[in-house]
Parts: sequence; C-alpha cells; structure tokens
Amino acid sequence: MAEAGTLHDAFIDELRDTYDAEKQLTKALPKLAKAATSPELRSAFETHLEETRGHIERLEQVFESIDEKPRGKHCDGIAGIIEEGKSIMGEEFDEATMDACLIAAGQRAEHYEMAAYGTLVAWARGMGHEEAANLLQEILDEEKATDEKLSALAEGGINQEAASAAHPDEDEDEEDEDEEDEDSQPAARGRSRGGAAVATPKRTSKR
Ligand SMILES: [Fe+2]
Ligand SMILES: [Fe+2]
Repeated sequence: MAEAGTLHDAFIDELRDTYDAEKQLTKALPKLAKAATSPELRSAFETHLEETRGHIERLEQVFESIDEKPRGKHCDGIAGIIEEGKSIMGEEFDEATMDACLIAAGQRAEHYEMAAYGTLVAWARGMGHEEAANLLQEILDEEKATDEKLSALAEGGINQEAASAAHPDEDEDEEDEDEEDEDSQPAARGRSRGGAAVATPKRTSKR
C-alpha cells in the first residue's frame, strides 16, 4: 500500500492539470478570435492568447521553484468547456448573438482558471512556497482582468445588439432597465454603465 499523499502532492497534481489546461487554451483561443465579429472581442481573445503563452512560462517557473520538472496531465474540465465552445461555433447565429455566445464560452474558461489559480495560490502560500504563490497570483490577476474585459464588452453593446435583434419591439425601455441587471454577467458586480470603472467600448464592428 502506497503512503498517503500530502497537500504537496495534490499541489503538483493541480499544477500539472492547469499546465495542460493552458496548453489546450492556446489552441482554442485562436478559434474564438477567428469566430468573433466585433474587432474589440477578437483583439481581446488575441491579447489573452499572448497572456496564456505567458501563463505557460510562469507555470514552468513555478515547477522549477519547487524543484519539479514541468509536466502536464490531461485536464478533462477545460477539455469539456472547449468542446462546448466548439459546438456553439457550429451554430447558425446572427453575428451579435455569436459574439455573445463566444464571450459566454470564454468566461466559462476564465472562471475555471480563476478557481484553479485561486486554489493554487492559497495552497502555495499555506506551504510557504512564496515564489510559486507570487507567480500564480500574477496569472490569477490576468485571468480576472480578462473576465472583466469580456463582461465589459458584453455589456458595452454586444448583448444589447443581440437582444435587440431577438426582440426588436422592446428597444425603447432598455435604458431604464440597465441598472437592474448589474449581476447578469459574471464580473459585473460593482459596476454600472454610467459611472463605469471599466470603459464601455462601443460596438463598431463591420467587416
Ligand atoms: Fe491562463
Ligand atoms: Fe485565461
């Protein structure tokens, strides 16, 4: 009978899982970018692709900081999220609706990563792996910022454009209802359209 694993073993397991998830995402993000109509959305995915490559490098530094060889272990969770994203891209939606769906798919991935990195940071700190904790925190911050950027794009026009196409008669009331829906997108808390902490880019798409 093998000895019981410790939190350190679980930490390495989670690192391998996350390392693999990031590698899968470097293949998925270009597809999301290509499917996007809004130039801002496309560039958000492209920017995050670059950041994701940086996450892989930082994770390699994390492995090294605890004297482990960087190694991945297939991440079923992100594979499922990517699979769902692919099936959405196969649908025949209007452009704004497709953009709204791509954001939804992207935010599922970001939230999965935020959960993973939140745990990894806490475990690393708990075990006194300060260098690892700091690197992981840097990644977590970029995942959160991306999630917020996607919320801002959705709420800065894409959702409304999609909603207007779905319900053309209901346009007139939309301004009054903005405030009530603050939590409708995952990172929307604490932000309203008027006094936005995050800029609300206009949808200028045409291609
Ligand atoms: Fe990442
Ligand atoms: Fe990410």
